Amino acid sequence: MLYVDKLYKSYGKHMAVKGLSLHVPKGDLFGFVGPNGAGKTTTIRIICGLLQADSGRVVIDGKEMKTDPMGIKRSIGYVPDFFGVYDNFKVSEYMQFYGSLYGISQKDCERLTTDLLQIVNLSDKREEYVDSLSRGMKQRLCVARALLHDPALLILDEPSSGLDPRARVEMKELLMNLRDMGKTIIISSHILSELSQMCTAIGIMDQGNLVAVGKIEDLLQTGKELETVVLELSKENMEHATLILQQMTEITVKSIMENRIEITFPGDEAKMNQYLMEMMKQGVILSGFYRQKEDLETKFMQLTGAIEE
Ligand SMILES: Nc1ncnc2c1ncn2[C@@H]1O[C@H](COP(=O)(O)OP(=O)(O)OP(=O)(O)O)[C@@H](O)[C@H]1O
Ligand SMILES: [Mg+2]
Repeated sequence: MLYVDKLYKSYGKHMAVKGLSLHVPKGDLFGFVGPNGAGKTTTIRIICGLLQADSGRVVIDGKEMKTDPMGIKRSIGYVPDFFGVYDNFKVSEYMQFYGSLYGISQKDCERLTTDLLQIVNLSDKREEYVDSLSRGMKQRLCVARALLHDPALLILDEPSSGLDPRARVEMKELLMNLRDMGKTIIISSHILSELSQMCTAIGIMDQGNLVAVGKIEDLLQTGKELETVVLELSKENMEHATLILQQMTEITVKSIMENRIEITFPGDEAKMNQYLMEMMKQGVILSGFYRQKEDLETKFMQLTGAIEE
């Protein structure tokens, strides 16, 4: 559906996008995530044909940006990261206005408006003024407007920024519904956890390039060599347990606290159970143990270089 090949873009001396390549298959809900200034908006604006790249290729739905920019515009529905002011428009007029820009007849537009307002849950706001809507509603209206010409690809730049938690959930549900209806969607955000719940794949962007692309589960695996397991024990058990652990050659004791020991080992669950059984056989009483889950945000920070690995 979307192919991007070696995209470059500079603003003066500053290179905002540095050779970015990407493929988003049909039906994907793809999330661009990256810190402020990573180049998400720049990349999205190039994909939408609103900004010209210095070099590189963009192909959407079989259309080349260089030779068929109008075709590309028809294939895309774009929801920008800001919402304009539409003083005197009612919701229905707003939809009509955008419909006319795409050459949709008034009759078709009315039918489409009914359908789309239902999808974005704004049916009861049809005759309200756009400016009287909440920010979350405006954002959903923007999605409805972007879908008017039935684009092959819907692109949203930070659709949840500035929304309260409830409006964020509503936006997420809307996007998941559209995904389930078979739309191909690209969304950007600087909040990874938000994307991870809905996206089929994610690209982590940092300083103008993708530092990782793939399914969430696969991204979590990258660079994960050892699993950390936390053992909880009473103070009396600590010394005995530490001695036993130190004799188990495959185990590395990472840290010892008042009543917990963190260990790493290169094995699976069955192996861990063997270790635990062995410790219990030797008289260690564990009050608890758990695997330290690889945290998505931590992974993101590692990949974007915010913390050392
Ligand atoms: N019109 C412009 N002129 C000059 N520099 C720009 C312009 N637009 C963006 N930049 C710079 O390009 C880099 C990438 O910006 P971009 O807006 O694409 O990032 P972003 O990932 O969307 O960030 P944010 O999370 O803040 O929206 C930044 O360093 C930014 O300062
Ligand atoms: Mg941006």
